[in-house]
Amino acid sequence: MKTIGKLPVEERPRAGQVSNRVKKAIEEALSQRAQELKEREIIDKLEREKIDFTLPGKTPLIGRKHLLSQVIEEISEIFLGLGFKIAEGPEAELDYYNFTALNTPFDHPARSLQDTFYITQPDYGKGELSFEEMKKRSREIVLLRTQTSPVQIRVMEKEKPPLYIISPGRVFRHDVADPSHSPVFHQVEGFAVDRGISFGDLRGTLEYFVKKMFGEERKTRFRPHFFPFTEPSAEVDVSCLLCQGEGCRVCKGSGWLEILGAGMIDPNVLLEVGIDPEEYSGYAFGMGVERIAMLKYGVTDIRLFFENDLRFLRQF
Ligand code: PHE
Repeated sequence: MKTIGKLPVEERPRAGQVSNRVKKAIEEALSQRAQELKEREIIDKLEREKIDFTLPGKTPLIGRKHLLSQVIEEISEIFLGLGFKIAEGPEAELDYYNFTALNTPFDHPARSLQDTFYITQPDYGKGELSFEEMKKRSREIVLLRTQTSPVQIRVMEKEKPPLYIISPGRVFRHDVADPSHSPVFHQVEGFAVDRGISFGDLRGTLEYFVKKMFGEERKTRFRPHFFPFTEPSAEVDVSCLLCQGEGCRVCKGSGWLEILGAGMIDPNVLLEVGIDPEEYSGYAFGMGVERIAMLKYGVTDIRLFFENDLRFLRQF
């Protein structure tokens, strides 16, 4: 087309017509081919990406709650239904909350039953300190809590009765792991402080709990016991789930299984947090979550809870 200008004048119109026709033909051929290629690509793509709707899908892996979390929720639901509220406290706790304020001064023999992992070195002097000075020191000593009872004190320091609280959480003791012991385990503590709270309230509450947790046919039994922070104190048994009280291997022939500790809050504990024991009284109880889970779900070794073997965990 560029050379048309160099042709003799009379030939130019014809050459122009011819070259225009050729140009049009080439352009048409190109766009037709492009269209063809595009269609082919779409057809190939459809062919390649064909979906077989009849194939079974890939099931996504769905996690689940650990049995201990499930049991903590089961226990909590029962008490929430009774009007209790949930409170939590730190796992690294002050000696004061874990022991001293719970009527367990530093030289109390009950400490050795649960003595634990200290984070700061316990130093109570060599007998030269007064009781008040030792109490002050116990506010500086940090340990891994041996029980969830310190939450009682933390709540009562801040809030006035009426109080109806449960406190689930992890606790630590210097126990060697075996089928029924673990240095880490869980408890649910519960307590109530109000005017006119009696041992009958404690008994009724726990009987209700046992029936909801283990079945309406369960019986409960209170055995006298000792805890530094309750007076009187009891251990509570439930009639054996396996033999219904006849006596078997699980209950070691007694017909009863121990499930928790309980009692009326010692007046010393109330005084320590500035609650007048003449005006208010209260009860407290504490249960081991692993123990409840083992009894209810037939788990025979506490260590299974902490090994995280999916073959075990998937069963619940
Ligand atoms: N804290 C006690 C324990 O761990 C259990 C308990 C709680 C007993 C409340 C009485 C009242 O052994």
